[in-house]
This record gives sequence, structure tokens and C-alpha cells, in this order.
Amino acid sequence: MKKNIKRIGVLTSGGDCSGMNAVIRSVVRSGIYSGFEVYGIYHGYQGLLGGKIKKMSCRSVGNIINRGGTILKTARSQQFETPEGRTHAMDTLREKMIDALIVIGGDGSLIGAHLLYKEHHIPVIGIPATIDNDLHGTDFSIGTDTAVNVALEAIDKIRDTAISMERIFVIEVMGRDIGYIALQVALAAGAEEVLVPEIDYDVESMVLDIKKGRKKGKISWVIVVAEGATSAAEIAKQIIDMTGFDTRITVLGYLQRGGSPTAMDRILAASFGKAAIDALANGDIDKMVAISADKIKLIDLDYACSQKNELNMSHYKLIKILAT
Ligand code: F6P
Repeated sequence: MKKNIKRIGVLTSGGDCSGMNAVIRSVVRSGIYSGFEVYGIYHGYQGLLGGKIKKMSCRSVGNIINRGGTILKTARSQQFETPEGRTHAMDTLREKMIDALIVIGGDGSLIGAHLLYKEHHIPVIGIPATIDNDLHGTDFSIGTDTAVNVALEAIDKIRDTAISMERIFVIEVMGRDIGYIALQVALAAGAEEVLVPEIDYDVESMVLDIKKGRKKGKISWVIVVAEGATSAAEIAKQIIDMTGFDTRITVLGYLQRGGSPTAMDRILAASFGKAAIDALANGDIDKMVAISADKIKLIDLDYACSQKNELNMSHYKLIKILAT
């Protein structure tokens, strides 16, 4: 049933990523263009449990398209994970007369949106924004492209010193449950090895390859490790123990979540924000906006959160083929 929606709340939740501001801008301006009032909810779901809620204007989202982070701030709210917390959040939405909610975030945040809809029937639309790119049914999430490019720039620099000092470098990138960033950046950086949570790794056979390579005159290695697979420190220790070769580590960590969004993330943000507003205007609820084969789509929120995106096996194999 199409509900009469006048006021839309928007929040960013969970781990921040680059491009969130560009999505907020698109939601606010597309929303106002379509005749809605748009309210910014600060600090994610925590903002619905006693935080700041402010009416947004086209001006309040000026000059943020190029800025990393989120002007609405973000948080991981344990309280909202409970049914009581969600009831409290719904009371706030009723009190502020907010008729629908747009949630910008990763899987935990979008599961929260789905539960809010299921328990309280408020129309919700999710926008995938996470460096991990683990939401099912969308080829890309906001922030992933920027994170991959930030990691790539760093690894290119590390390669310079790896070659100059003839060292092995083990570089740890983010990716708690899936190896998307590791895989993409390893292929783009021309890494010799990539370790991801989806595939069992064998350090002994990797060390064998390194020893063979050394005999053929190869002088440096770049090995990319997703944090969900193991730690760079652990792999470096094993390489040193088995070879004695000069090995160093770099953990890229939170720098992958910051920086100015790439053109791709900004364009995706513009499209996703408008699509979320259109979805609410058309009476769609409990959906996530997605991109698949270059087309913007709506998919069920519980489907998007039900499983992780699969690893691109052809990219995985290509890394091995090209690392000879
Ligand atoms: O979900 C995005 C992400 O950056 C993961 O890659 C990482 O494991 C996690 O967030 C870190 O979470 P926190 O910000 O709570 O330390």
C-alpha cells in the first residue's frame, strides 16, 4: 500500500566511508526537488535514541560532494540491535512526524532498517555504503571504489621501496568477512600474492614460489592480505622463519575509509540518492537501491543482507597468472 509520505529522515550508520556525503547531498536535494521535507538524523541509529535531528535544506549540503566522512556523523548502536531499542527509535520517529527513513550504510545498518520496517511498518529504503562491498545483489557499494584506489596509491608507493631495498612486503588491507578490496587492489597493483578469507591459503607453497622466484632473479614481492584472512604480521613471520628473506609489513587500516571520493563513487552516490527518493515516492518499501550490469535497481533488503557477495574467481586466477 502506498503511504502518504511528507517527511523523510536520513541517517548514515556503521563504519563511515568516502562518498557518504555525496549520497546525503543527493538524498536531500532530490527529496526537496520531489516535494518532500528531509530531516538529517545525527550519529546513525543512536540519533533516534536521543540525539540530534535537523531539517535539511539544499544549502545544508553545499560543498560536501568532495568530502570524505559524513556530515551526519555515524555510529554503531548496540541499543538499536534490540527490539526495545528499535521501539524507542520508532517513538522518536513518530514524535518528529517522520514518515519514512533512508539508511546509508553496510549490512548491519541495513539489517537494522529491515527489522525496523518488519516490526513497526515504517517505509525504509537502504543505500549500500561500505568499503567492504559485501552486500548481495549490488555490483558496487558507495565507498568501495575510493577505498580500493586509496589502497592502490599506498601500495604503489610501497612497491618503490620494496624494489629499491629488495624486500618482501606483506600489506594488510581491510575486509572483515570478504576479500573484495584485497582482490581488486592486488590485481590493480600487480601483487604477487593475495590472501582472502574465502580461499584457504598455503604459506608453504607461497614460500616455495618465492624461493623459486629468487633463483630466477626476482628481487621483491608484494603480498596483499585481507584482514579477515589473517594478519600481515603472521604471514611475514612465517616467511622470515622459512626463508630468512628481508620481509616488512604495512597495515593500511583506517586510511582506506577516508579521502575525497572518486568520480565513480560520486556518480553512484548521485544516482543512489535519487533512486532512494524515487522509490519512496513510488510506494516502494523495505528495499535497497543497487547497481547491476550498469542499471540502477531495487532489491529486497533481506535478500541484500542474506549473504555475502561472491569472490570474483577469474580475478583471483588472473593475479596468479600475471605474477610470474
Ligand atoms: O565495515 C567496514 C570496515 O572498515 C571493515 O572493513 C573493518 O573490519 C571494520 O569496518 C572496522 O570497524 P570499526 O570501525 O568498528 O573498527
